Amino acid sequence: MKVLLCYFSGTGNTKKIVDKYVDEFKKRNIDIDVWNIEKKDQKFDAKNYDMLGIAYPIYAFNAPSIVVDFVKNIAKQDKKKKLFIIKSSGEPLAINNISSNKIKNLLKRKNFILTNEYHYVMPYNIMFRHTDNMAFKMWDTAKKVIPVDCDEIVKNKESKLSYIFMGNLIAWIFRIQYWGGRYNGKKYEVNEKCIKCKKCANCCPVNNIKIENDKFVFGDRCIMCMRCSFCCPADAFKIGLFNKWKVNGQYNFNNYNENEIQTHINFCKNSYKKYFDRCDKKIGEYNDRQGVSQ
Ligand SMILES: Cc1cc2nc3c(=O)[nH]c(=O)nc-3n(C[C@H](O)[C@H](O)[C@H](O)COP(=O)(O)O)c2cc1C
Repeated sequence: MKVLLCYFSGTGNTKKIVDKYVDEFKKRNIDIDVWNIEKKDQKFDAKNYDMLGIAYPIYAFNAPSIVVDFVKNIAKQDKKKKLFIIKSSGEPLAINNISSNKIKNLLKRKNFILTNEYHYVMPYNIMFRHTDNMAFKMWDTAKKVIPVDCDEIVKNKESKLSYIFMGNLIAWIFRIQYWGGRYNGKKYEVNEKCIKCKKCANCCPVNNIKIENDKFVFGDRCIMCMRCSFCCPADAFKIGLFNKWKVNGQYNFNNYNENEIQTHINFCKNSYKKYFDRCDKKIGEYNDRQGVSQ
């Protein structure tokens, strides 16, 4: 079996998940190629693969526009092929499940049939900053549950997420973000804290930031991935209308700090608990089947 896993990751969470998947596929002796969706200068031929995977971060209950555009350009296959979808998002609300519906339907018309779909909760890169402890717990959980999920894909055990009533309508309404992101991106500003490192311009996936004579020019292609402001070493960005929701700086996924002060502790408290419980149950059952003592 030969697998092609195509991904987009704005600020690295989805990439972490994809890397773990690649390890797990390789451990199972599956031939896997990985494709970064933002690299537009190369071409691939899906015909050379038996199974396609698409991974992305959820943006306002939808897939990012760059992912939708990429999917539209995939060629129709002569025969049916399996499709799996992997998504990451900042909170575990069931409404997030609907985000894949559009690309699922587009790909169905191209003969890719969805068999497996997984959602991993990872720390927010907009809205508010999760604590490092929460980031640690999220990543620790993802690391443990991905082998179980990968096993399902390899062993042809279907697993799909349920879509909530009216979810399609809600997702459709929130697609205004595709247009809104482009509009808002033009309103970005960089303040006096800027150290002129040009990291933002160099890392923008859609080449939307130009620096001309030390002046920043923001174009109209922003896809709201947050990479520029999230990764800015000087925290010098203002992100237009969403500035109150800005999150800056990579999370420390590796240290659990018992003294860290909990913030936003009540935000979606029950749904985070349900997510972690569900994953723990799945991991526990898998380990029992494998005869692993915990
Ligand atoms: C524009 C935007 C919209 C987002 N919308 C949602 C959302 O609707 N639900 C959610 O749980 N997380 C949302 N998030 C959070 C991201 O999905 C989450 O932090 C993800 O793990 C980021 O992955 P990345 O680092 O691969 O870009 C949003 C993030 C951005 C930038």
